Amino acid sequence: MAARDWYLRAYGPADREKLKNFTCYTPGQRWTKTPQKMLRQCPDAIEDREQDVTVFLACQIRWDWARLRPRETGRILGAIAFGLDGEELVSQTLGVVLDRRQEGIGTALKRAALAAMIADGHEARVYSHVHKRNVAMNGLNAKLGSEFIKDPDDGDLLIHGVLAVPDPKPSTPPWHAPAELMARFARATVPGPWRPPIQE
Ligand SMILES: CC(C)(COP(=O)(O)OP(=O)(O)OC[C@H]1O[C@@H](n2cnc3c(N)ncnc32)[C@H](O)[C@@H]1OP(=O)(O)O)[C@@H](O)C(=O)NCCC(=O)NCCS
Repeated sequence: MAARDWYLRAYGPADREKLKNFTCYTPGQRWTKTPQKMLRQCPDAIEDREQDVTVFLACQIRWDWARLRPRETGRILGAIAFGLDGEELVSQTLGVVLDRRQEGIGTALKRAALAAMIADGHEARVYSHVHKRNVAMNGLNAKLGSEFIKDPDDGDLLIHGVLAVPDPKPSTPPWHAPAELMARFARATVPGPWRPPIQE
């Protein structure tokens, strides 16, 4: 199997312009415009501190033999935004560039976000809204064991709930959540049966 040419890391201010131009729209699938728009808005949302949002990126890398460590090529292959919405843990949006789909990048990003949100060691439900025709995202969530209901406020949307469970042997790249993230999410990690998110 070919070596993976990407890794995951948290977004930083130096990624601002790249994320503002990030493209994950699928031609012919209008419902993929919203995730692209939301990801492009993340740099401003993070700077304005208007909402609780954390972004992880899948960055393309090349192995630097001189330094014996990976070097980023500068291309972002995928991104996920997540955070606390009131009392709920929410995966706000996720996107992968068109030419690198179905390689596991989307799943790795979502798993890393789930892991960060339960970094205090408790299991918790993480919610997301997905267009009912978004086969790829609904399929990805299904693989993560999601249960879903129709959004009572929007007939085009499904509300997914994925149970994030601490994994002692993570199968995705190791992710060590920063202490600040752990503290932020600790208060929201409530185990329990599926329940739809609070409707504003
Ligand atoms: C949804 C999206 C992020 C998936 O990213 P990805 O890196 O291709 O996903 P993965 O490779 O991790 O795929 C995981 C699973 O999702 C499902 N899946 C992904 N793409 C699929 C497709 N085109 N058709 C059917 N199922 C698909 C499969 O079950 C797949 O598992 P498999 O490869 O074992 O069959 C990507 O398609 C995307 O960016 N779409 C446009 C933006 C978008 O709609 N985002 C969702 C916001 S709610």
